[in-house]
Amino acid sequence: MARILGIGIATIDIINHVSSYPAEDDEVRALSQQQVRGGNVTNTLVVLSQQGHDCDWCGVLIDEADTAIVEQDLQHYQINYQHCQWLDQGKMPTSYITLSEASGSRSIVHYRDCPELPFSHFKALDLSVYDWLHFEGRNIDELSRMLQWVKLNYPTLRCSLEVEKPRPGIEALFELTDVLMFSRPYAQSRGYQTAADFLNSLNHDGLMTCSWGEQGAWLKHQGIVLHSAAFPPEQVVDTLGAGDTFNAGLISALVNGLSAGLALEQACRLAGCKCGQTGFANLDKAL
Ligand code: FRU
Repeated sequence: MARILGIGIATIDIINHVSSYPAEDDEVRALSQQQVRGGNVTNTLVVLSQQGHDCDWCGVLIDEADTAIVEQDLQHYQINYQHCQWLDQGKMPTSYITLSEASGSRSIVHYRDCPELPFSHFKALDLSVYDWLHFEGRNIDELSRMLQWVKLNYPTLRCSLEVEKPRPGIEALFELTDVLMFSRPYAQSRGYQTAADFLNSLNHDGLMTCSWGEQGAWLKHQGIVLHSAAFPPEQVVDTLGAGDTFNAGLISALVNGLSAGLALEQACRLAGCKCGQTGFANLDKAL
């Protein structure tokens, strides 16, 4: 078991389940609706906690009624959020999600009126108690300062970075991390049609992954590129947070000392299990 700190966001996810994705200007009725906690890094932590790790989250919480949804879920999964920054203005970031039963796809409209976590808050944390830090690739200027701070003050502490969306300046962060998790949209935004070509275009001393949906995921480590097939469930039910689950599977395996190849396979297996069910519950039994 490792002690892991995640830095990123929690959201309120308002999920409308529909039989199939509506056309533009259509009016459809949702089959059901859920309001749950979401957000990449907190999704990853919820899965890591179920893999037996001791997880803390540091991000921003707004003092408003909807925050109870986030707090209850974090408490349920024993994620410690005492290091969060509380603000009394604004709104928890909210995602309006259309989940298609026909395909399991999730389309997201995201709204935020919530400041990002500042470096000044992060700097006050005692990081010596952690085995691993995982960062969401957002808030680039502050994140750059955080990663430089870690390198300077905690040089042996391992850091992973999720690179899901292209954001100006994000590439400058790569050299400050040990593990980079790229998404297909990011690789495509850089002009690559395959994960292997994309990973081969980068020189990074650490380990890198690039996930590619139903084709599985690729990993590059010490100059060698590995592939794992996906582990699709019998029926794809819910792909919301599949990437976040992949990241949790990878971190858990690496922090437990598994080889790069086994870590990649474990991450794909866990992400596949997640796609076969709604939400993140019971992923402790998945592997
Ligand atoms: C899934 C997710 C949702 C959230 C959105 C934020 O990966 O974290 O839970 O609403 O992405 O971009």
